[in-house]
Amino acid sequence: MTSLEPRTPSGRESGDYFVRRARTADVAAIRRLLDGYARDRILLSKETVTLYEDIQEFWVAQASGSGDVIGCGALHVMWEDLAEVRTLATSPEWRGLGVGHALLTRLLKAAKELGVARVFCLTFEVRFFERHGFERVDGTPVPPDVYAQLLRSYDEGVAEFLDLDRVKPNTLGNVRMIRRIDG
Ligand SMILES: CC(C)(COP(=O)(O)OP(=O)(O)OC[C@H]1O[C@@H](n2cnc3c(N)ncnc32)[C@H](O)[C@@H]1OP(=O)(O)O)[C@@H](O)C(=O)NCCC(=O)NCCS
Repeated sequence: MTSLEPRTPSGRESGDYFVRRARTADVAAIRRLLDGYARDRILLSKETVTLYEDIQEFWVAQASGSGDVIGCGALHVMWEDLAEVRTLATSPEWRGLGVGHALLTRLLKAAKELGVARVFCLTFEVRFFERHGFERVDGTPVPPDVYAQLLRSYDEGVAEFLDLDRVKPNTLGNVRMIRRIDG
């Protein structure tokens, strides 16, 4: 397995960025990261108001030198034992340098702190998530009573998790993946 320690590309030092909780002032940068990938239908787009409403779910990676936000990711709790990693994005020029790994590691730690037993994601980045312990899953891995409760959610990501017909065009080609969180 390749080391996931950040590489040291020319002009950048190892440890050149850090991961922290997002603040409201980060929404503009999150917006830009999201728009870049939503244009190609890689990520689900979100209204700016939703980004503000969800800011407490977000973590960002910040470049130490410039202070720029170079990555983001969110953990959305869906049920007692279930959460979703969503809107995980690294700025194109920083990809392959461990930023995604650092963000996902922090989100998985947050899942553990919250007491969540399983984390779901919907992604094209199958290899990346496999390397972080995720496995492909078919269907919607919740019992019928929980499914019925989740149907009451207004959240678009939950609709995608439930694989509802109205959101299927958004998720074409995405792979459903899940991993357990050790208690
Ligand atoms: C998925 C995503 C967030 C990963 O971000 P990233 O910052 O490039 O992630 P990392 O640098 O940690 O890892 C990317 C690759 O670089 C490799 N890498 C990282 N550090 C490395 C190192 N020191 N040596 C060798 N390879 C390294 C990793 O092994 C990884 O390879 P893999 O994808 O085959 O597992 C990014 O590709 C992205 O923004 N994609 C678009 C949005 C998306 O699809 N999000 C997921 C759904 S929510």
